[in-house]
Amino acid sequence: VNEIKLPFKTIEWKNGKLTLIDQRLLPGRVQYVDYGNYRDVIVAVKNLTVRGAPAIGVAAAYAMVLASAELIMTGNADYMAKMEAASREIGAARPTAVNLRWAVDRIRKIIGDNSASTPRKIHELIEAEAIEIETEDKQLCLAMGSHGAELIDGNDGIMTHCNAGALATAGIGTALGVIYTAAFSDKKIKVYSTETRPLDQGRRLTTWELAASGLDVTLLCDNMAASLMSSGAIDKVIVGADRIAANGDTANKIGTYNIAIIADRFGIPFYVAAPYSTIDLNTADGTEIPIEFRDTNEIADVTGYAGIRGNISIYAPAFDVTPNSLITGYITDKGVIKSADIKELFAA
Ligand code: MRU
Repeated sequence: VNEIKLPFKTIEWKNGKLTLIDQRLLPGRVQYVDYGNYRDVIVAVKNLTVRGAPAIGVAAAYAMVLASAELIMTGNADYMAKMEAASREIGAARPTAVNLRWAVDRIRKIIGDNSASTPRKIHELIEAEAIEIETEDKQLCLAMGSHGAELIDGNDGIMTHCNAGALATAGIGTALGVIYTAAFSDKKIKVYSTETRPLDQGRRLTTWELAASGLDVTLLCDNMAASLMSSGAIDKVIVGADRIAANGDTANKIGTYNIAIIADRFGIPFYVAAPYSTIDLNTADGTEIPIEFRDTNEIADVTGYAGIRGNISIYAPAFDVTPNSLITGYITDKGVIKSADIKELFAA
């Protein structure tokens, strides 16, 4: 594989500050914002300045470091209790992607294991742990990339949904990480990105990052998936995940389930790419995954057209659950596996 260098940084920690690329403004404007306060990071997670399961996990870990820095600066009173309160606030910023809770819990464990130390010492340890979470996320992306790229043949047409790319992680991405790895090992592939209504992560983010990295990308509206698959252009579907239950049922961006059903109809392999931090063995199956519902204005307001009028209810889930029976395989950091292997391979 040639070195995969991407022309932007999603998330960066430097001199005690977190920098995020503002994903709400892409692709119109590339703007980086600095965060020195954990409450502002919670807002950034909620309003999708930073989004994508692994990226919000990394942002949450650094939010914990910022909360700790604030307590140390203001005199350490009730450090342990206040960190616990901050962890609850940060962990609740978004409900579906388990990576957020997973990262907060890793930091909480460091605090708990070192409760006899001084706040200053604990602070050093949790900053090191947050950096480790970020570094590890980069490595997990590379591991998924090399396992997944083996599934990809030259001249494949690959459909993806939402953005499971470098913008959704600290590294090269999950689903798009696989695609980058294949493309940078000189396989000629064509990527088809769905728009991903209502917030258009596919149209705004996936097309932007793939094109900026020199890949061949075609945009389609969500309702064109069956038409495109029937044309024979799609050989594989690869998507990311926000949470994979112990039985393999997978929550991902709303509309993923539609695509899985259509792929099944056409006999097209449907893969989910995700690191171990997205696998939640405490959730038995998809019915137990909490689904985030978002502000209905995200659906009501479509830029450029007249808004809706009258007393209309709006259905606004941000995620759906694709049952394991529709998933051909899971591209994980430990290799490409079947749902039956999840419990055994990912037991703590
Ligand atoms: O609402 P978002 O943009 O955070 O949703 C993101 C997704 O659904 C991604 O597909 C998922 O988080 C995987 S990211 C590697």
